[in-house]
Amino acid sequence: MKITNICCIGAGYVGGPTMAVIAKMNPKIKVTIVDINAERIAAWNDEDVSNLPIYEPGLAKIVKETRGKNLFFSTEIDQAISESEMIFISVNTPTKTYGKGKGMAADLKYVELCARNIAEVATTDKIVVEKSTLPVRTAQAIKSILHNTGSEVKFEILSNPEFLAEGTAIEDLLNPDRVLIGGESEAAIESLAKVYGSWVSQDRILRTNIWSSELSKLTANAFLAQRISSINAISELCEHTEANVSEVAKAIGMDSRIGSKFLNASIGFGGSCFQKDILNLVYIARSYGLNAVADYWEQVIILNDHQKRRFSDNLISTLYNTVSGKKIAMLGWAFKKDTNDTRESAAIYVADHLLSEQAHIAVYDPKVSGIKIQSDLNYLNTRTEEENNDLVKAFEDPYKATENSHAIAIMTEWDEFKTYNWGKIYDGMKKPAFIFDGRNILDKTEMETIGFEYSSIGK
Ligand code: UDX
Ligand code: UDX
Repeated sequence: MKITNICCIGAGYVGGPTMAVIAKMNPKIKVTIVDINAERIAAWNDEDVSNLPIYEPGLAKIVKETRGKNLFFSTEIDQAISESEMIFISVNTPTKTYGKGKGMAADLKYVELCARNIAEVATTDKIVVEKSTLPVRTAQAIKSILHNTGSEVKFEILSNPEFLAEGTAIEDLLNPDRVLIGGESEAAIESLAKVYGSWVSQDRILRTNIWSSELSKLTANAFLAQRISSINAISELCEHTEANVSEVAKAIGMDSRIGSKFLNASIGFGGSCFQKDILNLVYIARSYGLNAVADYWEQVIILNDHQKRRFSDNLISTLYNTVSGKKIAMLGWAFKKDTNDTRESAAIYVADHLLSEQAHIAVYDPKVSGIKIQSDLNYLNTRTEEENNDLVKAFEDPYKATENSHAIAIMTEWDEFKTYNWGKIYDGMKKPAFIFDGRNILDKTEMETIGFEYSSIGK
């Protein structure tokens, strides 16, 4: 099938950057991103590209180049579906908050709604591409909805999971380690391979069956998260044995079988994917009665929760066993640097724990607004919105945020934190002035020379 029009349902962290790059690399293809959220679409269409709903290095430049030429953002979902030969489903698949599988299984209602919408509107043959991360065998449900419309329209379903990481999305999309396409129809697979072929060499485009493709995405995220929980588990042991987790990570990472990436001990992983996808994997394994498999992967999450809790427990015990009424400055709220995304950020859980111990929290994050911070905390429902509002203040200046604080907790590894005038920060704080470096980004000797009581992870 010759592809001249592509539609993507879901203008989020995945759909937005992915389609922007597809549009840039395929100037002859018209790419339309649609979303039910009119406000989000308006932000994508904002004349000033610094107001795009997603912050991602390099994204604004590409949107500026392509928007209005062959990249469009719209709420006219039916129209975009009907004029496209290829439709990407890139809507969110959150963990279920109700009913069977609550807290574990992926909620597929939005994916199903998309499939039903496509079935209703389509009058010509379509290739439907699963971009959202989905439990293995979801394509079966999409297929069943699309193949039972009673019309003559033919649908081919492909799985094409996204491996981009936030903060480096554009770089990851432009130079992917691999592109994975799973499907039954060779012709449909090749149509999509051609779209990527504009900039990705064919030997990096992997073709598999649809179920392997779906499961590979969950497995990739589970393996990545497992590495972090593994090094975090060792970090706790380091703290009791005078071993240094950075030295251990370097020593093991030089073994080419292990590799050096993804071995940074931290306050625990966050982000929209790792926890959700592992819970999903655990749920699927249990649903097949594979309890040993499920228990094995569940441990990655248990350890991650333990790491976040351990960080706040350590902060409280170091501050003479009470943070009640004390000002704790948090530097960073995003789940990692170079993104404004806060989903499942460790900062939220650490703050919630400290607030339950009656701490006052001051937050500075270069890309996250005070409104977002409040809504992240309110979402947990631990206390009233008024209480969160009283106890948590967001600042636009890190020096103001840390002023008169009893301790600083570094939650995100933003580069700018390394270049602050730490002597000035020290002068403005209550003494003894504590730093809890949840990302191991500051130099211990330098901090101690200034006068700080400095502690980090795994050292
Ligand atoms: C999401 C999932 O979290 C991830 O698992 C999957 O791989 C891709 O989709 P992300 O792009 O980060 O990732 O989600 P989000 O930023 O929430 O964007 C989803 C968008 O879909 C939202 O803008 C939402 O308004 C939109 N949407 C949702 C629709 O347009 N229609 C719907 O029916 C539901
Ligand atoms: C992840 C996968 O990397 C990506 O392939 C997939 O498509 C989506 O999920 P993302 O969640 O955007 O991407 O970011 P990632 O860089 O993987 O970081 C996830 C979390 O792990 C962050 O909180 C990060 O700070 C943490 N992390 C990462 C560590 O604590 N230590 C590390 O060594 C690496």
